Amino acid sequence: MTKWLGDFPFLRKQLVSLEILPETASTNEVLKSEALADYTAVLTDHQTAGRGRMGRTWVSAPGHGLAFSVLVPGMSPSQQSWLPLVAGASVVGAVRVQGAVNAELKWPNDVLIEERKLSGILCEVRPDGRVIVGIGINVDYSTGCLPSEESTSLAEFGEVSPQSIDALLATVVGSLREFVETPAPGALTLAKRSVEDVLATLGREVSIHDLDGTVWSGVAHGLTDDGHLMIRETVTAGERILVASDVRHLRQ
Ligand code: BTN
Repeated sequence: MTKWLGDFPFLRKQLVSLEILPETASTNEVLKSEALADYTAVLTDHQTAGRGRMGRTWVSAPGHGLAFSVLVPGMSPSQQSWLPLVAGASVVGAVRVQGAVNAELKWPNDVLIEERKLSGILCEVRPDGRVIVGIGINVDYSTGCLPSEESTSLAEFGEVSPQSIDALLATVVGSLREFVETPAPGALTLAKRSVEDVLATLGREVSIHDLDGTVWSGVAHGLTDDGHLMIRETVTAGERILVASDVRHLRQ
């Protein structure tokens, strides 16, 4: 039994149901079946075919990484475009409280500590309009190989236990619920404030790797009302708005 897995009493209070699976291909896939209530969630410490953004895979070694997905109600397109950012910002807030004080968000939804990746988020919209929020967290790789040289795990920054992981996920789901259940425009104000507070990408020089392989650079200087990233391009000084791209932080 993985030492940081427990019964999740605080998390359960935020949910309609929680299933803890010994192993599954992808927790996001589990929530694609039709008859599920809002705030149904699934978690495992052994995900065998985890998926990441932009067609990537998400690797988490059995017993070392946590895969968690929760189904949230449908919302307006504008609110939905903030959802991954809000999820990422809430992970940042929760892990800072637990000792990872340098945790930050990289647009749109990577949680980094000292530029190394702790957590990634994949939001997927179901045909019925509801959204699956999938969160992968590197919990404890103190006895195993991290997924990559650019990764880190929570155990490097403090003790992990069933209580700390329960508190972390309960905080994250609590923040998601607050955002989803707040009507616009309040939700957008809430999102902007919580995200801008922890978004390390703002003010940074970044390189952008487009899906067609083009690479360009610029300075990220703000977020639009939809949470898209505003970039002043280095070569042309032109303004560009990123909706979904692979952004890498360059020098500070
Ligand atoms: C990324 O960084 O590209 C996003 C990674 C998202 C991984 C999580 S783990 C739980 C959920 N299930 C999946 O298959 N993916 C997400």
